[in-house]
Order: sequence, then structure tokens, then C-alpha cells
Amino acid sequence: MTPLLDVEAAVGRLAAGELVGFPTETVYGLGADASNSDALRALYAAKGRPAGHPVIVHLGDGAALDAWAAEVPDHAHRLVAQWWPGPLTVVVAASARVSRVATGGLDTVGLRVPDHPVALELIERFGGGVAAPSANRFGRVSSTTAAAVRAEFGPEIAGVVDGGACGVGVESTIVDCTSETVRVLRPGAITAEMIGELLGVEVLLGGTTRAPGTLASHYAPAARVEIVARSSIGVRAAMLLGAGDRVGIIAARDDLPDGLDDAVVTLATADSPAEYARILYSALRSADDHDVDVVLAVPPEPIGIGAAVADRLGRAATGR
Ligand code: TXA
Ligand code: MG
Repeated sequence: MTPLLDVEAAVGRLAAGELVGFPTETVYGLGADASNSDALRALYAAKGRPAGHPVIVHLGDGAALDAWAAEVPDHAHRLVAQWWPGPLTVVVAASARVSRVATGGLDTVGLRVPDHPVALELIERFGGGVAAPSANRFGRVSSTTAAAVRAEFGPEIAGVVDGGACGVGVESTIVDCTSETVRVLRPGAITAEMIGELLGVEVLLGGTTRAPGTLASHYAPAARVEIVARSSIGVRAAMLLGAGDRVGIIAARDDLPDGLDDAVVTLATADSPAEYARILYSALRSADDHDVDVVLAVPPEPIGIGAAVADRLGRAATGR
């Protein structure tokens, strides 16, 4: 099993080119020294991630931005002044110091300062950039607790620092700042509306850049995930149970119908979109622990962070 590490031990392991899981406010990251190409290659291997998919470089302070970026447009400066530390990743032109292993060969880099005391202490004491994708195997459900990281990886990573459950629960908003047009490549807690309001521009959604979290199928448990409307849960559950499937459900508390068959496992309920984001990945993971065949998920309204939750649920449901 993956060892638990304190911050000091984790810093030593990163410096030695090893891989360390650590908490951020969004999800747990699997960290490697962003300046060590061998460590980065080991990171891709541990995740089973294709070499062409770039990872985010985590910084301890916004002041480091100019060292890692070749060029920072004014709108990127305004975004990070407003939201760093926080769940926002900016994609900018990479400086020469950024390993092209971290960028998947691109000349752009995703940078962010996480808003978590353990992450900030780790990065500051390490003294460099920490490349960290979410701490899950490629295509699978992200980890929001140290226990999930330990369930995902074994002794092939040096260890994980336990910083409790993540407060946001879904990955950072990724904003492409490499052109005049501002694009949200991946929705998160900081919404396109918030960004548009700050910058006073129209913000586009989606993009063509390679981003695993933006692949059609991602965040998937072994169980099949089906998106259902509140009104059809009962009928769909009865049909699946009748076919011999074990059925689990994830929904807002208000969306749970009365009189649901006792055989349906309630994996999680949420009282708000923010709570839905926090419980989403542990709920998807628990589907496999409960040996559920099909997860029926009622997405929240795609408003605020609900848009990111609906996005992740849609990808968890796609292509399986
Ligand atoms: O909240 C988060 O962002 C978490 C925590 C650990 O910080 N990290 C995370 O990393 O979600 P990962 O690797 O699972 O997702 C990073 C996303 C990928 O979709 C990747 O393609 C995109 O960031 N990305 C990184 N650099 C990029 C670049 N230069 N251009 C476009 N997308 C980039
Ligand atoms: Mg990921």
C-alpha cells in the first residue's frame, strides 16, 4: 500500500525524483519535480497517461508566473490576480525552463497556484514547480481523499500526504490565455460567467487543445454511468433491477423520488451544487465498492459549479 508521508518527507521524495500524492482544494494531485524529465516520465508511466497529454505545473506563489511563462498577456495577469491561490489554471506560452515532457511537447504550459495549506507548504519547501495531474489512473475517477489515492496506486509511488477531503471536489477551471480570445477548456468552480464579468469580454467554451479531462470519456468507474432525468429514475431503476443489474443512484436530495425499490443503493445525495461537486468522485468510487452495475445520476442544474459537475458526469457516462 502507498505509504503516508509528512510534508518534509514528501519534499525529500520529490527532490529525489519520486512521485508523491498531495491534497489541493480541488482534487488530490500526483506530484513530480516539474524540472526533472525522468521524474515526469515516471509520472506518465504511473498514471498510464499518453505522452502527448500535458500536465499542470503547480507554483507556490503567483510571483513565479513570469519565470515559467514566456509571455503573460494582460488578461492572464488579471485572472491570476483575482483567483490565485485558487481553482484556476491558465494556459500560457511556456518559458525555456519548462520541460517539454510536462507540456506533452507543446510550447504552452498550464500553471496554477492551489489554495490548500498543505500543497502550498509542500511547493514552497520544495522550492520549484510541481507537475501534478489528478491522482488517478488515466481515464478513471479522480481522488478527493488520501484513501482514494492509496486505493488507486500501490508502492509504485513514494507516498501520499493526507490533507483531508478536498473542499471543492472537481478539478480546476482551465483557461486558454494563449490568444486574444479567452476560452474555458475545462469548466470548474470558477465559471465562464465569472471570468467574462472580470475581463469584460465574451468567453468561449471548449477548445481543440489536447486535454484528457476534456476527452469524451473520462472520470469513469467500472460501473456504467447513466444520466437520467428526475422524472424517469423510478422507471429506469425498475427496468434495470428487472434485468438483474445492481443499481446505484447519485442525485440532489430533492431529486430522489419516494418509493424507490429498496434494492437501489443510494450512493450519495447532495443539498447544493457545491456539495454535489464535493461528493461526486467519492460517490462514483463507492459504486465499485458496492459492486453496482449501473449508476443512475441526476445532474444538478448547470449553473455555477453545477456546470462542472454536469460536465464530469456526462464524461463518466460517455462511451461505456
Ligand atoms: O484541479 C486540478 O487542476 C488538478 C489538481 C491536482 O491541481 N489537476 C488536474 O490535472 O486536473 P490533470 O492532469 O488531471 O488535468 C490537467 C488538464 C488536462 O486536461 C491537460 O490536458 C490540461 O490540463 N493542460 C495542461 N497543460 C495544458 C496545455 N498546455 N494546453 C492545454 N491543456 C493543458
Ligand atoms: Mg485528471
